[in-house]
Amino acid sequence: MSDSAPARSTPRWVGPALFILVAAVVALLGLLATSLQERNAEAQRPSLVLQPIAEWEPDNAKWGANYPREYESYARTALDTTKTKFGGAFPRDYLDEFPQLVVLFAGYGFSKDYLQARGHAHAIEDATNTKRIKVPVNAGTCWTCKSTDVPRMMAKIGVKEFYAANWHDLKKDITHPIGCQDCHDPATMRLRITRPALREAFQAMGRDIDKATHQEMRSLVCAQCHVEYYFKTDPAEGKKNYLTFPWANGTTVEAMLEYYDAMDFADWTHAVSKTPIIKAQHPDYEVYSTGIHAYRGVSCADCHMPYRTEGGVKFTDHHVRSPLLNIANSCAVCHRWSENDIKTRVEAIQTKVANARKATETAVVQAHFDVAAAMEAGATDDELAPARKLLRHAQFRWDYVAANNGMGFHSPQECTRILGEAANEAQQVRILIARLLATKGKTAAPSHPDWSTRDKAWAAVQAFVKGQPPKMLP
Ligand code: HEC
Ligand code: HEC
Ligand code: HEC
Ligand code: HEC
Repeated sequence: MSDSAPARSTPRWVGPALFILVAAVVALLGLLATSLQERNAEAQRPSLVLQPIAEWEPDNAKWGANYPREYESYARTALDTTKTKFGGAFPRDYLDEFPQLVVLFAGYGFSKDYLQARGHAHAIEDATNTKRIKVPVNAGTCWTCKSTDVPRMMAKIGVKEFYAANWHDLKKDITHPIGCQDCHDPATMRLRITRPALREAFQAMGRDIDKATHQEMRSLVCAQCHVEYYFKTDPAEGKKNYLTFPWANGTTVEAMLEYYDAMDFADWTHAVSKTPIIKAQHPDYEVYSTGIHAYRGVSCADCHMPYRTEGGVKFTDHHVRSPLLNIANSCAVCHRWSENDIKTRVEAIQTKVANARKATETAVVQAHFDVAAAMEAGATDDELAPARKLLRHAQFRWDYVAANNGMGFHSPQECTRILGEAANEAQQVRILIARLLATKGKTAAPSHPDWSTRDKAWAAVQAFVKGQPPKMLP
């Protein structure tokens, strides 16, 4: 029997050996971590010594020398072959796809030429080539959302003077497409607002844009251009074609209609129905603001400029495009659904909005022809005023949804609500006209021309515009 400790089953050298082994592993791991950190820092560090960038530097390539990843991804906005069900960067011809637009925009440039937007790198080219601009006098204002030369020229010649200039006279100074200067402060690279119209629109709503949070700025840089706007001419204020967002009463479609009605604003008089029409531009920011993502603080950049990783470096993807071409980074970071589920879900939402839009379009086109029929039957402008007012509202509501990008995805409920109201207003017009025609001894509902193709729609409009000045012709 023994009182001693149990016999050792392991040799004496094992303890110290284990200690040395563990110490070695810890040291190696430490080295590895340091090396990874260094490589990361190296990768984050620009490859060149940062070159100072001038305050109003318009040349994207000069900024790109300092920030090659952002620049290279930005340069991909030149790609224009991508197509999604309703979007993408392909310049699809809306007038071929939706011939009813030829009637809806009769008497205005959009009935001549209306293409789907391409990427930012094409902004100058596309604005210069559209037939809408090829008239001798066009507002300098049209350049405002196209180029990094705009802030520089505004600083040089003055904001009012910039807007009041003739488009063609500014052409030689405006050569760089949308880019770094539009969204960044060159000294700090912080996001900044370079377009006075957005700043002024915030003031008109009693808000200070300089108090916007960083997350809000990730949408507001886009809101400099992706919004509803008009050109204000007011000699008393010394304003000619002054870019203005109609936000003083708010950014909903009702608030804007109230604003435009109060000043009797119209972009043109409709060639068929002689209705004073407001062309909605692309109220992307306004529509987005009514949606679930804005409510939950998701910004435009979260979906359209998601983070990307390249060789261990995380940076902002500057290839601004349809998020459906980049679902993994744009959506799946928040939504743990499969990419296919996400795509199907978005297309289902968009298809519902597209169908509602189509039904509304038909009603609004018919209303234009109905008013024209009443004119032919001898109805006076006074008699037609209530119908024309409804028609003006119906068309603006419809266009607020139609001209906004994304086929309703940014706020599906709001878009279908607005389309529903527009369709109802267009039908109200048709009822008013039927009653008016009855007082003129006409009992049959007016017949409508065929507008099922672009050429037929064109011919249908031509039949109504005979004898009018050429400017009115579509
Ligand atoms: C929750 C994600 C999300 C947010 C936030 C978002 N978008 Fe979008 N956006 C989309 C989707 C999805 C589409 C539809 C793309 C398609 O049909 O190919 C789209 C379409 C667009 C398009 C048309 C692109 C194309 O290729 O047809 C533009 C322009 C656009 N959005 C601008 C904006 C702006 C400006 C904001 C902020 C005010 C914004 N978006 C906020 C997801 C988002
Ligand atoms: C300086 C004005 C300006 C700013 C700022 C701006 N855009 Fe644009 N954007 C445009 C114009 C103009 C076009 C159309 C260009 C064309 O068709 O040549 C466009 C096109 C687009 C397209 C269509 C490209 C495609 O591939 O489908 C998307 C998406 C888009 N912008 C999203 C955004 C987002 C998101 C922001 C903010 C992060 C933003 N834009 C900021 C003016 C601007
Ligand atoms: C339409 C607006 C817009 C344009 C144009 C734009 N950026 Fe950005 N940029 C952003 C946004 C949004 C972020 C994210 C900033 C944040 O959340 O702090 C960003 C971030 C950056 C950053 C910070 C690092 C990173 O990747 O997140 C750099 C550097 C940068 N951009 C460089 C550029 C360069 C260079 C250009 C021109 C080639 C450019 N940007 C054009 C909107 C823009
Ligand atoms: C930064 C996070 C974030 C990103 C990025 C994001 N979402 Fe969302 N999404 C949300 C939140 C938050 C909601 C609200 C519902 C919730 O709380 O789950 C939501 C809701 C939705 C809904 C339901 C909408 C409704 O009306 O009920 C759809 C569909 C959707 N997202 C699609 C997308 C798509 C497509 C993308 C990419 C283009 C995207 N989301 C990107 C956070 C995000």
